[in-house]
Amino acid sequence: MSIWTPDSWRQKPILQQPTWPEAELKNTFGRLKTLPPLVFAGEIETLKASLAKAADGQAFVLQGGDCAEDFSRCNAPAIRETLKVILQMAVVLTYAGNKQVVKIGRMAGQYAKPRSSDTETIGGCTLPSYRGDCVNLPEFTPEARRADPERLLQSYFYSTATLNLLRAYVSGGFADLHRVHVWNKEFVAQSSQGRRYEDIANRIDDALNFMNACGVGPGQLPQLREAEFYTSHEALVLDYEEALTRKDSLSGRWYDCSAHFIWIGERTRQIDGAHLEFFRGVNNPIGVKISSKLEPDELVKMCHVLNPNNEKGRLTLTCRFGKDKVAANLPRLVEKIKSEGLNVLWSCDPMHGNTFTATSGYKTRDFDHIAGEIRDFFAVHKAAGTVPGGVHFELTGDNVTEVKGGGQNIQDHDLGDRYLTNCDPRLNCQQALEMSFQVAEMLRQ
Ligand code: TRP
Ligand code: MN
Repeated sequence: MSIWTPDSWRQKPILQQPTWPEAELKNTFGRLKTLPPLVFAGEIETLKASLAKAADGQAFVLQGGDCAEDFSRCNAPAIRETLKVILQMAVVLTYAGNKQVVKIGRMAGQYAKPRSSDTETIGGCTLPSYRGDCVNLPEFTPEARRADPERLLQSYFYSTATLNLLRAYVSGGFADLHRVHVWNKEFVAQSSQGRRYEDIANRIDDALNFMNACGVGPGQLPQLREAEFYTSHEALVLDYEEALTRKDSLSGRWYDCSAHFIWIGERTRQIDGAHLEFFRGVNNPIGVKISSKLEPDELVKMCHVLNPNNEKGRLTLTCRFGKDKVAANLPRLVEKIKSEGLNVLWSCDPMHGNTFTATSGYKTRDFDHIAGEIRDFFAVHKAAGTVPGGVHFELTGDNVTEVKGGGQNIQDHDLGDRYLTNCDPRLNCQQALEMSFQVAEMLRQ
């Protein structure tokens, strides 16, 4: 294989990139290259070690957040509420599922979106598609849709602000296990899911009080006071990712320091494409979204390109098949990976294969379809003797009405009430919590 450099992807065919104004892009790229990295190689390696444990079934990965972040919602309440629901889910999975939970937010950099078409035509007028806040704006005007390199720089600063607050929360006391009750929001606390959560929280309280009485408290155990939390996004816009790729001064190894974990989308995972080329050279733990379209031989090739040393924790395969395709299509991939002795972490994204348009016109997903896909995912791994190592959700801490069903039994005609996403429909706070109870049960079986 040819020599890898942070810019060797430029020699390969690339999909899903905006058409940037060259001179401006060069300028921005130069600025980004000199700015401090967002994360540090040591943290990235710690996450990789945790993912290696998850691949062995000693831990479980919970990845979640908005489909796409947007600049206008980079504020403390939005960040706090998303973190809160992820922490609640993690508590449920840890307590009821009896597993250490590796918590990864789709946060602090999830600003780029792949699109099915490069352009959009409305009333005879054709403009470039909206590609996420790091590229352009959703408004249908030529000015808004222009790919603006300045927005890459803004993405960096919004990511920095988000990450800064996340770090403050998880190390500054917000994620302290003594606060499990406080994360339960009023409108959720009243529901049956909320009460179920309260029950776990009470039992955790009891355990903490008992330990305290035995002389073991947060003073001795910072693990109780601080949570481990990581960031991730789809590394789609490679000019941005390259600019934040740095050589670790201690090990001499390359890391993409825009986030701890980055993934390749289903639309950009071509074997000879630019994204695989970029990803193969950075030492982060990485993910690839895969569907039933992927053949076993191609998957093996992909694993060899992305993880030539078969390092554990390095490669996560995130399956987004759709509820009716898991049972029929996942087993041959799982068997192939197993028989080749390849180390991967199997994760389930039950969201992206289950999107449909409701009769009301809203793009939605159904709670039961989502839960069903995870159930099938677990069943396939049980039958193969392999490890279902994690789940990947689009969720929000807000009380939105974007996904049908769940305990609130959101119906077609309810979707319009609080449909706030500017991209894919997300589990609301209550649905997310409910989902974590279901996954915890699957983990226990
Ligand atoms: N430090 C442990 C962890 O991050 C335990 C922990 C502390 C925790 N606060 C938490 C777990 C909040 C879940 C949620 O896993
Ligand atoms: Mn999405």
